[in-house]
Amino acid sequence: MKEQLEAIRKSALDAGVETRTAVDLEAVRVRYLGKKGELTAVLKQMGKLSPEERPVMGQLANDVRAALEAAIESRSDALAQEAMAARLKAETVDVTIPGKKVEIGHKHPMYTVLDEIKEIFINMGFEVMDGPEIEQAEYNFTKLNAPENHPSRDWTDTFYLTEDSSILLRSQTSPMQIRAMETYGVPIRMISPGRVYRKDEVDATHSPMFHQIEGLVVDKGITMADLKGTLNAVIREIYGPNTKTRFRPHHFPFTEPSCEVDIQCHKCGGVGCPTCKGEGWIEVLGAGMVHPKVLRGCGIDPEVYSGFAFGMGLERLAMGQFKISDLRLIFENDMRFLSQF
Ligand code: DAH
Repeated sequence: MKEQLEAIRKSALDAGVETRTAVDLEAVRVRYLGKKGELTAVLKQMGKLSPEERPVMGQLANDVRAALEAAIESRSDALAQEAMAARLKAETVDVTIPGKKVEIGHKHPMYTVLDEIKEIFINMGFEVMDGPEIEQAEYNFTKLNAPENHPSRDWTDTFYLTEDSSILLRSQTSPMQIRAMETYGVPIRMISPGRVYRKDEVDATHSPMFHQIEGLVVDKGITMADLKGTLNAVIREIYGPNTKTRFRPHHFPFTEPSCEVDIQCHKCGGVGCPTCKGEGWIEVLGAGMVHPKVLRGCGIDPEVYSGFAFGMGLERLAMGQFKISDLRLIFENDMRFLSQF
């Protein structure tokens, strides 16, 4: 039995040293120390030994087991270290390789202008309101005092969503005047920017979708002087403190009197040039005193309250500010264009 044990010790230690992987090492452990292993098989024969031999062989068997366990553990550690070294070598990170550049976007130029304008109005005590782009004809036209035969009601001008012409894509932000007065009552000071839709062919100055900013002030004692003072102040914030303005009579169904507001061409100083199409002046917005019929329709007594409203095109403002020559550039999302701002 002694020879058997020594043979096991030698062959097990040799086998262990030769293993290259943890799996092989485990196989060696099972082969010698497992339940059906060679050392275990020898130990099962202990009963056959004489009482004198038994403790001697028991001691030797324990020594062999301890030696095998120690050898397996140290081989296991060595294999783990080898594996780690191999991984470190295989997975080295080259910190000198240039990283991937993350492109960070920025605000669209039109929204830069919109945010500036919102800021100007918020500083003057206006609230900013949002409204539906799918609108009722009632709000887009009727409550705004547009007569039944008004050309903008025509199917060739407006995108209707129902056969009976009752629902449409709003053609102006003016319906927000009605919604604001109906929802919040008076006094009120608000602007409402948003998308509007018209059946326009696309060219350098037209698009079937564009943006307007509507404005409305209603309170006791509001006059045309408030309209002029407010709009002059806003225009000078946007275009510079020395900007000259001109208020021309005009017609809108929902205001009376109505006007269009021009600024003197900043390019030519009013002489006439391509920027102002030879006019010397550039139209920037429409405005007027809220029509008494409109106030009354919203449950507001025009004998007590009065107000003014205005509407301006956002694209035109952005084009002026950033010297953009073609409206289409604003919507095309071409990075070569957008990255300039
Ligand atoms: N809604 C008008 C348009 O689309 C613009 C406008 C003119 C709005 C006068 C107003 C206003 O509030 O008072 O042409």
